[in-house]
Amino acid sequence: MIEGKITPTQVATLAAQDHRVGLSFNNKLYGGVSGDVVHEGYLQHSLSHDRQKVVIKVGPGVGNREVTAARRIHAQAPSFPLIQDLLSGYDYVVYPYLSGDTIDQRVRAGVPESTEEFSIFARLHAQLWEQTQKDGISVLDGYPKKLEQTKEILYKLALKDNDGKEIPVADIAHRDWRVNGRSIGRLEDVIDTTSANIRKSGMGVLTHGDEGAGNAIKEKNSGDIIFIDHGSAGVRAPEEAIAKILLWFDATNVNGRGYSLNLNPKGVELQTKEQTKPHIHRSVAAAQTALQPYLKDLSSDSAISSYMMVYLWRELHWLERRGRQDAMPYLLAKSLSFAPELQTSGRGRSSYI
Ligand SMILES: Nc1ncnc2c1ncn2[C@@H]1O[C@H](COP(=O)(O)OP(=O)(O)O)[C@@H](O)[C@H]1O
Ligand SMILES: [Mg+2]
Repeated sequence: MIEGKITPTQVATLAAQDHRVGLSFNNKLYGGVSGDVVHEGYLQHSLSHDRQKVVIKVGPGVGNREVTAARRIHAQAPSFPLIQDLLSGYDYVVYPYLSGDTIDQRVRAGVPESTEEFSIFARLHAQLWEQTQKDGISVLDGYPKKLEQTKEILYKLALKDNDGKEIPVADIAHRDWRVNGRSIGRLEDVIDTTSANIRKSGMGVLTHGDEGAGNAIKEKNSGDIIFIDHGSAGVRAPEEAIAKILLWFDATNVNGRGYSLNLNPKGVELQTKEQTKPHIHRSVAAAQTALQPYLKDLSSDSAISSYMMVYLWRELHWLERRGRQDAMPYLLAKSLSFAPELQTSGRGRSSYI
């Protein structure tokens, strides 16, 4: 294990010691938001002349995390198409380079087949959940803490009102909110109901752990969809994963077209106008259809709506890091559009997009 920041040279030296190979780094870096560094590089086995193109992920504990998670997934759901590591140490992992675009890139670019691909992407996740369903597990251990953190994130955000004044959400959470023409009551009550619903729901499945569409590559040669970045795999409520799949493009791609925030002593009125590109909408609709059978079995409307809201609240926090602060009011309005479903008990009927 290496303490502190890990340099490429250290990783290359470690790999050479551990596995008797040569490892060289390209200048090309792939950017994610996780904080690990992903390089392109080449691997040279000492006995052969061939160089193999690889992707080298470096970060504190990343090798340990990704290898352990891969074994766990493979043991319980061997058909889940996961990238297999080549070499690893505690702080690094080396994967074969997959040529092809991520599902995220393909959907955004509007590649005609991407509608079907995003639906397969969703179904592959759902098959993993189905194969690893666990009864009577208290999955939500740790989740209440996540909920508390989420509430803090939400309360710390500031929204600009119609006069350009910044208002912290905490200052207006006790007022009655109206969002895009629908009354949702006091924001703090909505937050409490969401937390209560999540504490009540209880089934556990093994999830990949980061269902963002950038974590699957459509491999050019085979045409297969292969998952990467599985280091957070763990037992969770399936709704947490469903929310991420269905709202990923809202969180990362929403384009606002102006909003208005009107405040009066008792109430808050938020009006937003956003634009979803039709091809992205089509892909998300296809994924929702693919998940429908699982939604029906796994979830109630109130549970899934709660997870949808919490997912978007957590994403609000990332907007800044992605340089997309401007999208805040739209994402907040989108999250609150699920509020009317919180009290219902029906199963898998609503439309979430
Ligand atoms: N084996 C691979 N082959 C080709 N590209 C990869 C591979 N692994 C990662 N990438 C590229 O690097 C990006 C970031 O990798 P990822 O493992 O998802 O890291 P992060 O934790 O930063 O999200 C991916 O979205 C993909 O574009
Ligand atoms: Mg990733």
